[in-house]
Amino acid sequence: MEKYNCKITGKKIKKIINFGKMPIANGFLKKKDFKKEFFFDLTVLFSEELSLLQLNDHPKPRMMFNSKYPFYTSSSESMKLHFKEYANWAKKKFLKKNKSKIIEIGSNDGTFLNNFRTKDIEHLGFEPSKNVSDLARKRGINSIHEFFSRDSLSKAERFIGTTDIIFGANVVCHIPNLIEFIKTADKLLNDNGKIIFEEPYLGSMYKKTSYDQIYDEHIFIFSVTAISKIFNLFDFQIIDAIPQITHGGSMRYIIERKKKRNYNNKIKKIFEIERREKINSLEGALNFKKNCELSKEKLLDKLTKIKKQGHKICGYGATSKSTTILNYCNIGPDIIDCIFDTTPDKIGKFSPGKHIPIVDYKNFTKQFYDYAFLFAWNHKKEIEKKEKNYLKKGGKWITHL
Ligand code: SAH
Ligand code: TMP
Repeated sequence: MEKYNCKITGKKIKKIINFGKMPIANGFLKKKDFKKEFFFDLTVLFSEELSLLQLNDHPKPRMMFNSKYPFYTSSSESMKLHFKEYANWAKKKFLKKNKSKIIEIGSNDGTFLNNFRTKDIEHLGFEPSKNVSDLARKRGINSIHEFFSRDSLSKAERFIGTTDIIFGANVVCHIPNLIEFIKTADKLLNDNGKIIFEEPYLGSMYKKTSYDQIYDEHIFIFSVTAISKIFNLFDFQIIDAIPQITHGGSMRYIIERKKKRNYNNKIKKIFEIERREKINSLEGALNFKKNCELSKEKLLDKLTKIKKQGHKICGYGATSKSTTILNYCNIGPDIIDCIFDTTPDKIGKFSPGKHIPIVDYKNFTKQFYDYAFLFAWNHKKEIEKKEKNYLKKGGKWITHL
């Protein structure tokens, strides 16, 4: 029998669910590349010691984050607004002094850092995906085209021991070696420095059975309990956790060097909620497994009925999340004709694994689809507003949720 080990402690941990063979979630591809497409085994594990949900196997980071990374933060207006508010909140709360230094990891096209371009703030972004890093540079952002790691410290000498805040969003869960991440952050931060990041929240994923949060890039799905346990191993302490509505439910974590022996009351309360709701224990993970299997059955029933009635179905939003749904549920172009999307790098290509054509969203209204599977369900408001005529024409939005 195969043994599974925790990515942080190295100890033996339990397998929760196997979603089967998966391609690179953001690996939208051309027909000529179908034959050499890469697949790996998407198995989810749970460490009871760290309350940490994690992947077993995953592709090497370079296979996912390279010059063809097709995700641009600025593709969503609501995310642009979110990052503006995130930046203003941080400035007000933590950056009151005259000269500040901040770093963002996974700075992508510079959407977040763009809010810090004032003369009092020195900023630096670490962004390994060259296409998005280059775009950030064009916009005037100091973006280093590298993974945030021990080896990239030499590129950030001015920031060693002097950084006020290291920010991240939807990136810490992408880093396989969290130990190295925390040690590198420790070298850069000043005595009072903070690590502030927001990531998809395990509690929200369990509540919605949004198993599509699980794909190659998301090596971990965190909870407050897990984050506190991980950082505690390195003498850091969580001092606040603030829920966010982004990406279907995220959590913003604020971490600093351990100053007190105990956690504050707010954090203690969250631990209690996570304990009550079984977000911190194996039981919650096993419930989730059952719910995923049920969700798959229900979705396939629903799609089969729609097809039997002779209706046409398209997809909307060629998200990385959709790769898990389509491959786990074995849904191909025989069921979903095409997926509409705004991203130029995806349009004209095919979805990973199941090879559904990706089409420019501008054509969405040109041909009528009775049902549109909203894969970008986390952008529901923005998309339904943009496509308000679809409902008027009798179209129906569906999701797996
Ligand atoms: N922060 C942005 C982008 C999230 S996508 C947002 O929330 O919209 C994740 C980004 O992190 C990608 O651009 C990817 O290239 C980058 N990334 C992945 N691993 C990284 C690492 N180890 N260090 C820095 N950036 C990383
Ligand atoms: P995300 O869920 O990882 O943020 O990816 C969102 C995808 O949805 C991305 O490919 C862009 C696409 N999209 C649209 O097609 N239309 C929209 O209005 C929005 C907000 C996103």
